[in-house]
Amino acid sequence: MDLYEYQAKDLFRAHGVPVLPGRVVTTSAQARDAAAELGGTVVVKAQVKTGGRGKAGGVQLADTPEEAERKAAAILGMDIKGHTVHRVLVTPACDIAAEYYLSFILDRTHRRFRAMASMQGGMDIEEVAARTPEALVTVLVDPISGLDAATAAQIVQAAAFPAEVAPAVADTVLKLWDVVVAEDATLVEVNPLVRDQQGSIIALDGKVTLDDNAAFRHPSHAELADSAEQDPREARARARNLNYVKLDGQVGIIGNGAGLVMSTLDVVARAGQAHGGMRPANFLDIGGGANAQVMADGLDIILCDPDVHSVFVNVFGGITACDQVATGIVQALRILGDTAAKPLVVRLDGNNVAQGRRILADADHPLVTMVDTMDAAADKAAELAALTCAKGA
Ligand SMILES: Nc1ncnc2c1ncn2[C@@H]1O[C@H](COP(=O)(O)OP(=O)(O)OP(=O)(O)O)[C@@H](O)[C@H]1O
Ligand SMILES: [Mg+2]
Repeated sequence: MDLYEYQAKDLFRAHGVPVLPGRVVTTSAQARDAAAELGGTVVVKAQVKTGGRGKAGGVQLADTPEEAERKAAAILGMDIKGHTVHRVLVTPACDIAAEYYLSFILDRTHRRFRAMASMQGGMDIEEVAARTPEALVTVLVDPISGLDAATAAQIVQAAAFPAEVAPAVADTVLKLWDVVVAEDATLVEVNPLVRDQQGSIIALDGKVTLDDNAAFRHPSHAELADSAEQDPREARARARNLNYVKLDGQVGIIGNGAGLVMSTLDVVARAGQAHGGMRPANFLDIGGGANAQVMADGLDIILCDPDVHSVFVNVFGGITACDQVATGIVQALRILGDTAAKPLVVRLDGNNVAQGRRILADADHPLVTMVDTMDAAADKAAELAALTCAKGA
């Protein structure tokens, strides 16, 4: 789960990373009040889960509460790379002397965290990495042994931070590492970390991604989830423990096992080329032990998607044999009743395939077409989607 800047800074604050105070508001009038409360010049910052807010005009200075109100009115509702701004952060303006960069990111290839530090903050770090790679220091941190003060100091020294800020920056590196460990984050990034005119080190921006697999260890993280930002079907799938991702095509996909579903997406995308460019509408893995209820939950989510025009159920029977899956499909269609109104193409293979196919044949559901191979089934599903699309148009 990606966090908003203000949420990231709340975590920073809780772990002793220096940040400025701030108020998150949803209206321009509230922004005026927040600016009055904070006093002095403030910065009004769009809260969206994407970078480049500054360049898009989503970060603006305001000298007075009235100006903060005007700036907030301009920023609220703004579209930044497809994200609508619903909230702004009002925070004191900082008298910046220098902008730096610090981050930790999970490096799956090395099974380590990658600590990165640079004196060249404030700009796109990808650009720094491409143009002046020597200006970006990278150190791998073993998550088991962790990060000690000596290594933090080395990182800061390698990045050539001036002596007068080095201890404070090293301390910030250690505290950001605390955020990684204590919150189970896969990304913690500060761009820019600034030195102000008084010589203080402050995290002016914050980006945090929390590891959803560790959510069970952090009941408090549930409050950070932003249901408005999430696709409603993804939220419903999550509530039912289904692994669902919305995509932009027309063919709904259900399969058992992430690998099978991934290849089903590929096969459908290819087959769809011959049918007016039909594409997969989603990823949905119902897992190995899918019973009738899980199948019904999965079908329900997909069939309620108005973008879906046909559904491809692609199952390879393993521990859960094909006859159980077939029974699941039949029961699911019974549970769903009239909700199920889109053509279903079912391909069954694997353990007990003959029994499975017989169960579906006996049920003889008017919406269900059985196709024996994955390629032919993908073609059929794409064809049916194109047909219903054409009828609807
Ligand atoms: N409180 C502040 N006081 C003064 N300047 C600020 C403040 N917050 C942000 N800025 C300035 O605005 C720039 C962009 O802000 P920030 O990094 O928070 O947004 P961003 O989404 O990362 O934008 P971009 O991707 O364009 O850098 C900062 O590099 C900094 O120069
Ligand atoms: Mg930034």
